[in-house]
Amino acid sequence: MLTEQQQRDYQSDGFLVIPNFIEKNTLNALRQRAMQIVADFDPAESVTIFTTDEQSRHSDDYFLTSQDKVRCFFEEGAFDAHGQLNREVSSAINKIGHALHTQEPLFRTLAEDPRLSAILSDVGLAKPEVIQSMYIFKQPYIGGEVSWHQDATFLYTDPVSVTGLWFAIEDATLENGCLWASPGGHKQSLKKQFRRNDNGVGTHMHTLDQSEWVEPREAQPLEVAAGTLVLLHGLLPHKSDTNTSEKTRHAFTLHAIDQTAHYPEWNWIRRDARD
Ligand code: FE2
Repeated sequence: MLTEQQQRDYQSDGFLVIPNFIEKNTLNALRQRAMQIVADFDPAESVTIFTTDEQSRHSDDYFLTSQDKVRCFFEEGAFDAHGQLNREVSSAINKIGHALHTQEPLFRTLAEDPRLSAILSDVGLAKPEVIQSMYIFKQPYIGGEVSWHQDATFLYTDPVSVTGLWFAIEDATLENGCLWASPGGHKQSLKKQFRRNDNGVGTHMHTLDQSEWVEPREAQPLEVAAGTLVLLHGLLPHKSDTNTSEKTRHAFTLHAIDQTAHYPEWNWIRRDARD
């Protein structure tokens, strides 16, 4: 599926931009389905807020039991000082997670696209398996920052195999909070592991390497058109900034691992629980 040049670029940069991966009609259908899921969502179900800056919130049961469900997670900036929603629910959702790829036919069709398994095989996954999906809204004005991280922090295998498939459902620009990546940054080691606690309750962040993150001057914005697929190595530092524009920045992500790699039980996604 990937040309030799694309494979070389991925090996040296830790990411690869593949334009025109999803056609327009499919983009529209995915977008509409995501909006419908939010329209059907009862906000009383949860007021969980997703932010990688506040890892303690990940411990929330609503998050930790979402691996095989389709659940909506609120944006932090959608609440006032009294904890009341300050906008319509449709403009307040940060993301839908984490099993659109198994529970929602349109998203399942995309996750099962044979081009994806071919790409994952080209980048070295012997037996690729998609284990997580998210639809990210990046709402106008409040779409929160996702700070520098490596995806292997949140989905760890030994050896590291997690690979991100990031699909632009809408154009991603500097203004609406596109991805940023640090080319070649995947050659550094893993900094942290997000682990379930030994007693089975909650999670903690286990630090492996205290060294600092990449300098901003090394970072590169990935402004891409709707329909683009961005492939992300599990050790590649990446982030996205707050959406300061009046436009949404919808994206859909899948994360795949290699089934031949060891999968520790302390990962927040429990593989045995999904079968
Ligand atoms: Fe990520």
